[in-house]
Amino acid sequence: MADRRPVGFFDSGVGGLTVLRETLRRLPAESTIYLGDNERTPYGPRPDAEVVGFAIECVDHLVRRDVKAVVVACNTASAVALGELRRRYDVPIVGVVRPGATAAALSTRNRRVGVIATQATVRSRAYFTAIKDENPFIEVYEHATPELVPLVEAGLLAGPEVEAAVARSVRPLLGGPEPLTDAVFPIRAGEGIDTLLLGCTHYPLLQETIVSVAGPAVAVIDSATATASTLASLIEIHGLGSDATSPRHLQLTTGDVAAFRRTAGLLFGDLFPSVEPVVITPVGGREGS
Ligand code: DGL
Repeated sequence: MADRRPVGFFDSGVGGLTVLRETLRRLPAESTIYLGDNERTPYGPRPDAEVVGFAIECVDHLVRRDVKAVVVACNTASAVALGELRRRYDVPIVGVVRPGATAAALSTRNRRVGVIATQATVRSRAYFTAIKDENPFIEVYEHATPELVPLVEAGLLAGPEVEAAVARSVRPLLGGPEPLTDAVFPIRAGEGIDTLLLGCTHYPLLQETIVSVAGPAVAVIDSATATASTLASLIEIHGLGSDATSPRHLQLTTGDVAAFRRTAGLLFGDLFPSVEPVVITPVGGREGS
């Protein structure tokens, strides 16, 4: 029997809309509820325990709205909180790390993959572990690039400021003169990566600039398409598919609705018009919307 309940998504802000966009393409009959925790963005510089707490509050809220599955459309929350979320909830939950890691492992030919992500994601080593699970012979270079999320949240996707920030973030992985200082293993000169994984759901919005800095020899991969495919499999496995001809899509933000609308409009045109405010109170407290 068809299940028309929505799929729930959450991220610290607008970045997870990149995953939602791919899901709408891949699963056009599914209704969705997207929760952007813009009030508390960014998650990346925060301690793990705080990110886990925020992730639980977001999923609590989605579950109360009777979602049939949850997509953690945030690498930071996927990297540090996915295990705890799956322990707490019976609803099926998909993260973005494993699908992106698989796609990157399949893409590389020289077995050198770079990952750019938030500090918390890099600290977790979740990508390192997931890519090594796919192919232990791949060298994984993880690089924390905290400058990029605030640019996207501000709707800044191009121009000299963005180009400079992207260059600082990506060049250390290319095997050129700038050394990669925060990697466990350094990249040897002339032995740069051939695959760059965008380990943050905000980064695909900077794809054009990232591709131009990385150059034609580097494949730039993100988790969005692979995550939408994983969600499709999950829905099939659980027999949760919808047969709706006019699915509904609702976006909630803990931050400023006008700012969310403006940024989502700049980034995605009129794809996400139904934005409403939501208040999330700490776990165990009362919440309203
Ligand atoms: N978009 C998120 C991620 O994929 C969060 C970025 C942040 O809040 O720091 O990691």
